[in-house]
Amino acid sequence: MAQREHWGSRIGLILAMAGNAVGLGNFLRFPTQAAENGGGAFMIPYMIAMLLIAIPLMWTEWAIGRYGGAKGHGTTPAIFKLLWKNPLSKYIGALGLFIPFVVLCYYIYIESWTLGYSVFSLLGLLPHPDPNLPQSQYLKPFQEFLTNYTKPSPTAYLFFLLTVAFNGYILYKGIKGGIEKFAKVAMPTLFIMALILMVRVILIESPNGTAVQGLDFLWHPNFQQLTNPKVWLAAAGQVFFTLSLGFGAIITYASYIRKDEDIVASGLASASLNELAEVILGGSIAIPAAVAFFGVMNATEVAQSGAFNLAFVSLPAIFSNLTGGNFLGFIWFFLLFFAGATSSVAISMPIIAFLEDEFNLSRKLAVTITLIFMFLVAQIPIFMPKALDEMDFWAGTFFVVLFALLEVVIFFWLFGGKRAWEEINRGALFKVPRFYYFVLKYITPLSLFLILAAWSISDLPSKLAHGDLQEWVARFVMVFILALQMFMVYLADRRRRKEG
Ligand code: PHE
Repeated sequence: MAQREHWGSRIGLILAMAGNAVGLGNFLRFPTQAAENGGGAFMIPYMIAMLLIAIPLMWTEWAIGRYGGAKGHGTTPAIFKLLWKNPLSKYIGALGLFIPFVVLCYYIYIESWTLGYSVFSLLGLLPHPDPNLPQSQYLKPFQEFLTNYTKPSPTAYLFFLLTVAFNGYILYKGIKGGIEKFAKVAMPTLFIMALILMVRVILIESPNGTAVQGLDFLWHPNFQQLTNPKVWLAAAGQVFFTLSLGFGAIITYASYIRKDEDIVASGLASASLNELAEVILGGSIAIPAAVAFFGVMNATEVAQSGAFNLAFVSLPAIFSNLTGGNFLGFIWFFLLFFAGATSSVAISMPIIAFLEDEFNLSRKLAVTITLIFMFLVAQIPIFMPKALDEMDFWAGTFFVVLFALLEVVIFFWLFGGKRAWEEINRGALFKVPRFYYFVLKYITPLSLFLILAAWSISDLPSKLAHGDLQEWVARFVMVFILALQMFMVYLADRRRRKEG
């Protein structure tokens, strides 16, 4: 067994894991979800999901990864087989390759928009309409700009290639010399950029409103909304997405942790950094700026028009009206780019680790193959926006929850509760409170099951009932990818049996 790489330092590990979690979800998805789902009241299901599902799952993923890494495996096909000696386990584990790979193929494209927009902002190439125009006309040039850009324009394609090259460069350099090094620069920079924006946004005042009204708009609790199950599902979904849980990405990162290093404390530290970035910084930039600039009434519309509109239409429109707006716009998009890049390298790692660990490929070859394959599949979301949504629904939402459920069941029921508990706590300065043993054994799997059931009832029938050409292309390609990955899992397993 070849010697696997390790993270260089604890702070490097925590920052890399925080980089994995902190992404576009913190600055765009969180504020729009909260605004749409009860404002301050959203934080109640959010906190409950955090305590009963996310934190326990996070320890589970760190423990599963560290356990596999010590035995030379960084991805779930092999790790599930170690945990549960059943011929099926490795194929279930293939989901841990499928999910991150499919998400990568569209996430990296959206990430490339943020790079493109940061350059446009800096060079003053975004629209600068007359601020006295009524809102709809004022926003129009920004909307048109976005439509033209994402068509995709040749420039969009160029920035996509640059983004792939940038990710490739970091991945070539490896865990310690690439991902960890990048996180150590990107994460502090990201926090500083977010702080600058937060302070500037709080000072925005317009005839329509103030940023403080924006904070009130976002955080004012609407408790009535809590009777709506959709709000609870939205909170659980957000918690998953923001902490990168159920994607396989945390497990692969965790497989590079040393055998007896504390995962209980480091896991909590990285989750805390993510929550700081999400609730404090993410909540204090986009929505307050929109309310201050457009007023509460219109900001509701802005929040409902979705995260992309907020990021690529409303915010550049607001900044274009402020002194130093080009620079503020640059900081905003570059912040998103760093947030996105530290996440896209994380979702690239499972496939790369799989090729390295199971087929003994060199890092460089594994990265090259992964990038080429990703580049080919990415053409689908690039040219078919509806295919992008379809991939996001299946790989980025539905399978994530299913995979999380399978992880907990395999670890706490099939591998065994007592062994799993020991795995989590090995090397921990502070052991996890005993209460969590019961949470992990019963409450987390049950909650995940209920979420999945509720979703299957409310969303699946309408999802499956229709589908246009683009959606069918996406489905076909996803089935193909999953089948191919299962075949590779089979080959890897045969290879291992022959050797061992
Ligand atoms: N957590 C990231 C975000 O908030 C998304 C992500 C999911 C990144 C899974 C990597 C893996 O944007």
